Amino acid sequence: MSILEVENINTYYGQSHILHDLSLSVEEGSLCALIGRNGAGKTTTLRSIIGSQNPKSGTVKFKGTDITNNEPHETSQLGISIIPEHRRMFPELTVEENLRLGHMGQEITEDRVSELTNQVFEYFPRLEERLDQQAGQMSGGEQQMLAIARGLLSDPDLLLIDEPTEGLMPTLVEKLRDILTRISDEGITILLVEQNVELAFDISDHAYVIDEGENRVDGPSETLKEDEEIKDRYLALG
Ligand SMILES: Nc1ncnc2c1ncn2[C@@H]1O[C@H](COP(=O)(O)OP(=O)(O)OP(=O)(O)O)[C@@H](O)[C@H]1O
Ligand SMILES: [Mg+2]
Repeated sequence: MSILEVENINTYYGQSHILHDLSLSVEEGSLCALIGRNGAGKTTTLRSIIGSQNPKSGTVKFKGTDITNNEPHETSQLGISIIPEHRRMFPELTVEENLRLGHMGQEITEDRVSELTNQVFEYFPRLEERLDQQAGQMSGGEQQMLAIARGLLSDPDLLLIDEPTEGLMPTLVEKLRDILTRISDEGITILLVEQNVELAFDISDHAYVIDEGENRVDGPSETLKEDEEIKDRYLALG
């Protein structure tokens, strides 16, 4: 069963028509990759799903409910969490305060919050050691961990992650690969936007390749992974 259905969406920034009849479907419990070169429309697709840039036409359905014109706080309450590009957080606030923002405004019991917090500290022990530190003073890798932790604390059913490995050292990329797999194994559905195509194909079940705001190819990741033509045609960087 699919948890997310995006059907023929057309999304604009002002007069610029960015997404053209874009469709995708994400199976419940799966890890789905969305890949494409710079400017292909990946972030715009995520923004169209959460409602920070609503499509002009087409539909977005989450668990069968039409959420096409919802606001971000509404999609968040329904169980969709986004970890945006460039790990946006509040640099002046401490790690603890940033984490608290993850479950603020959500209907979650205190027991569930402590369960989620324990889980997140198991993934990222360093965050627990640094609760009082200002987020802006942490390394890029630690900030990415914090961004993911904050996303998980809203107890999502669907996690949208936009280029989590961007700018990270290889050892951290490997750690992140492991964490994403573990999050997925916990049953959280993931839609992962990634420039690291090898990693994306490796850890995902299904992948969508988009270019110029349009669907190009999709299929089981292990099949697409072998297709050199896809990489040459749609994934050349730059
Ligand atoms: N706020 C905006 N206003 C106008 N145009 C925008 C805006 N944001 C993005 N665009 C344009 O929309 C297109 C798609 O951008 P988008 O950010 O979705 O691509 P992307 O696939 O996420 O790229 P990247 O890999 O660089 O993050 C690009 O041509 C971009 O220039
Ligand atoms: Mg982007």
